[in-house]
Parts: sequence; structure tokens; C-alpha cells
Amino acid sequence: MQLLVTGGAGFIGANFIRHVMDRPEISRLVNLDCLTYAGHLENLHGLDVHPKYAFERVDLRDKAAVCRVVQAHGITHVVHLAAESHVDRSISGPGDFVHTNVVGTFHLLDACRGAWAEKYSGKKFLHASTDEVYGSLGASGAFTEDSPYAPNSPYSASKAAADMFVRAYRQTYGLPAIVTNCSNNFGPYQFPEKLIPVVIQAIIARRPIPIYGDGLQVRDWLHVRHRRAHRAAQPPPRRAPVRSRRRSRPAPRWRLAQAHHARRRPAGPRPALRD
Ligand SMILES: NC(=O)c1ccc[n+]([C@@H]2O[C@H](COP(=O)([O-])OP(=O)(O)OC[C@H]3O[C@@H](n4cnc5c(N)ncnc54)[C@H](O)[C@@H]3O)[C@@H](O)[C@H]2O)c1
Repeated sequence: MQLLVTGGAGFIGANFIRHVMDRPEISRLVNLDCLTYAGHLENLHGLDVHPKYAFERVDLRDKAAVCRVVQAHGITHVVHLAAESHVDRSISGPGDFVHTNVVGTFHLLDACRGAWAEKYSGKKFLHASTDEVYGSLGASGAFTEDSPYAPNSPYSASKAAADMFVRAYRQTYGLPAIVTNCSNNFGPYQFPEKLIPVVIQAIIARRPIPIYGDGLQVRDWLHVRHRRAHRAAQPPPRRAPVRSRRRSRPAPRWRLAQAHHARRRPAGPRPALRD
């Protein structure tokens, strides 16, 4: 297996590469990443000299470069993680989300379609999406693979659009692609703009914990190294092409903050924060 991981210098990508690097079925692991503010090669410290590993500093928005990587390394499997991933940034600047998440995903799909030339045996394309494409839950319930899409931010809209391209490439060209719509992840190497690192930093610095709105939005949390989630993302290609990865019943996010910081939260309105 010649595996291409996009976004391997980011949070989930670095954890994923560390998790699979020594798997015997992988003969080559290529990390394609253009190193935005969220990408850090230090996340892969120690692996950069691994004989199976190669790094390609390539921007998904550059289609010719993406095609070159897929062709040059004889890629057979893709784990597509590269994305603009922060909701707040998508609100202040949605353009990058369209170009990377939608157009970039199209470039990667088309690069694989071209390189694989309809010889799909032994090939697989995994697109990492988010449960945010399903919008907001009420006070109870959970999303399933059959929940209707209802993205509420430019970030989730861009991921939803990318999901539709992956689906279309599967239906139209037979590309062996699956989509995972997993919930919020936490764990090592997470960029400290996301909720849990922000909360931990606030606790360490003895600052008030910032919570978005009334803090009652429901989010589910999945540890980035959760083994069942990794297995859930590896069904045989003929099974359903969409996988939702949830760990447990969702909890309102303020409970997380409360659990860590109940005695320090000052009275009065809380500053806004989205993740
Ligand atoms: N972190 C979560 O809680 C979560 C939850 C559900 C889904 N996801 C999805 O999982 C994937 C990985 O998330 P993450 O938290 O690791 O993201 P991240 O922001 O930590 O890392 C993204 C990586 O992609 C790279 N990248 C961004 N734009 C690029 C481009 N144009 N070309 C090449 N590389 C580019 C960045 O340099 C970075 O290394 C994303 O697709 C995200 O939508 C994340």
C-alpha cells in the first residue's frame, strides 16, 4: 500500500501517521501538506527520518502539483484530512474554506481518478468530514448517516460540498471512496485555538473560561486515538460509503468546562467562543 495522507502535519493527521506508520501493509507513506498556520512538522518529530516516509509541501489548490504527487508515488490509498478546519476563521474569511475544502478535494479526487484510470481494485479514498454538516441537534438525539445535511457555518458548508463531490465521484466514476462524519476530536498536537486546549490554557493561566453563548450547544467528543473509530473508518469498499464516528451520548460543552473549573468561573456574561 502506498498511502497518501493529506494534512499530515495537522492535529488528526499527525496522530494518524504516528498510529499507522509501522503497519506492515504500508510500504510508503506520503504526507501532503502546505503547512498553513495549523500545520507543524514538529508534530511528526522523529518520523521524518523513517525510511517509509516522504513529505511533499504541496497546496491542494494547485491541481498540477497534486496530480504529480499521486502519480509520482504510485498512490493506492488516500486519507484526506487537509482542510481549513476552524469555524471562527470560516466566518471571518470563508474564501479559503471554499478553495481548500471544496476545490482542493475536487483536485484530489480528480488526481486519483486520473491516476487510477478506473482500475480500482486495491484502491481506496477516505475523506474525513465532520458531523457539523448535519447542523445542530436539539436537546436530545444523535446524528446518524441518514440525518439530512444542514450546515450552519461556512466551514460546515464547505465540508458538506466536499462530501457531495466525494459521493458524486463514487456514483459517477465508481471511485472507491468513503466519507466519515465524525464528531469533535481532542488529544495531543491539537492547535490551541480549539475548545479543549483553550479551556486547559485558561485553567493553567487562571483566566475565565470562555464559553460560546449560553454554553448549551451539544457536542460529542472523540479522542483522536480512539481505536474503534479508526476501525469504523475501514469498512470493505462495498459497504455503505458514509460512516459517522461517535463515541457516546453528546454532552453540553459547558459541562466540560464546569467539570474543570467550577469554582473559578466569574459571574456575568461569558465571552464568545466557537470551535
Ligand atoms: N479536529 C476535529 O475535531 C475534527 C472533527 C471532525 C472532522 N475534522 C476534519 O478532519 C480533518 C483534519 O482536522 P484537523 O483538526 O487535524 O485540522 P488541522 O487544522 O489541525 O490540520 C489541517 C492540516 O491541513 C493542512 N492544510 C490546510 N490547507 C491546506 C491546503 N490548501 N493544502 C495542503 N494542506 C493544507 C494544514 O497545513 C494542516 O496541517 C479536517 O478535514 C477536518 O474538517 C476535524
